[in-house]
Amino acid sequence: EKGGYDYFMLKEIAEQPKAVADTLLGRIDGSGSLTLDEVRIPPRVLREIDKVVIVACGTAFHAGMIAKYAIEHWTRLPCEVELASEFRYRDPILDAQTLVIAISQSGETMDTLMALRHAREQGSKVLAICNTNGSTIPRESDAVLYTHAGPEVAVASTKAFLTQLVACYLVALYLGQTRGTKWGDEIRAVIRDLSSISGAVERVLGTMEPVRKLARTLASKDTVLFLGRHVGYPVALEGALKLKELAYMHAEGFAAGELKHGPIALIEEDLPVVVVVPSPRGRSVLHDKIVSNIQEIRARGARTIVIAEEGDEAVVPYADHLIRIPVTPTLLQPLVATVPLQVFACELATARGNEVDQPRNLAKSVTVE
Ligand code: F6R
Repeated sequence: EKGGYDYFMLKEIAEQPKAVADTLLGRIDGSGSLTLDEVRIPPRVLREIDKVVIVACGTAFHAGMIAKYAIEHWTRLPCEVELASEFRYRDPILDAQTLVIAISQSGETMDTLMALRHAREQGSKVLAICNTNGSTIPRESDAVLYTHAGPEVAVASTKAFLTQLVACYLVALYLGQTRGTKWGDEIRAVIRDLSSISGAVERVLGTMEPVRKLARTLASKDTVLFLGRHVGYPVALEGALKLKELAYMHAEGFAAGELKHGPIALIEEDLPVVVVVPSPRGRSVLHDKIVSNIQEIRARGARTIVIAEEGDEAVVPYADHLIRIPVTPTLLQPLVATVPLQVFACELATARGNEVDQPRNLAKSVTVE
């Protein structure tokens, strides 16, 4: 049932191109616009929304963080993202004009369920992004957009995460389309890029051998840091989470711009630091800033592991290890940039003799608060 793989996690990482393609299937029509029939919130209501609030936990929360960039950029609606476990206890401001998006692979996470119940009590509409048909979260929501990752067995979420991202992009683009805001050439181009993104994920998977080799050399390290900015920041957090849960290593993700406000004090000789580099095209200011961050940490002895777009030559002099990812639009980069981090964590866990599919102390769905 592991389809020839040693672990479910490896199988599920390999299934990502298909999971991404399946989640897009039938949702973009021939003319390149979106059809999301499952989102049963009438367009009239969606046009009146004045705020989006995303609630989720763990990996799904990281997908939500990335969704915020996409939603705000493509719809110009303010979007907040909050850990479901914190949300309900701070008396959040919600009303009928708030669209709440609950993201959950299992559809049974108690924290997320309680958050969405609270939102509905305040009169907000709730859209679930969920991978499990008929589970509690979609049943209790006003609408659902299913991710088509197929069953995810390994405790650490991989293919579900990529499909959550796809679903978030679809919702952001759909909201943009429905509300008629910023629905221009850029959005049409992104829809086109999204339709071919599963090929890019496939290409990344084909180049992972050096990542595995590198991971094996780091098995005796205590700490790995992850840096990113913009949508690369949640990717860094996700890379760190995967490493904690699978390799039981101390791992932390930082927004690269925060380095100088504290974390740079952690840098010491030979400390592995993974840096997710934004595309040099588009938001090139961010790219240049992160290149200086890489220089700064390397000057302090860090071992830099750089994830950068093909053709980005500016990073080459400062990368002890360079992991290439395909050229993608900035907002879509997490779909390709996350994959090497999953492979990295999985390989490190194996090298440390850990049980990859069933990490200690964790359960696949957390049905208690
Ligand atoms: C991480 C992981 C967890 C889940 C979190 C939410 O690899 O699996 O962080 O993402 O418990 O679970 P769902 O998405 O089922 O609500």
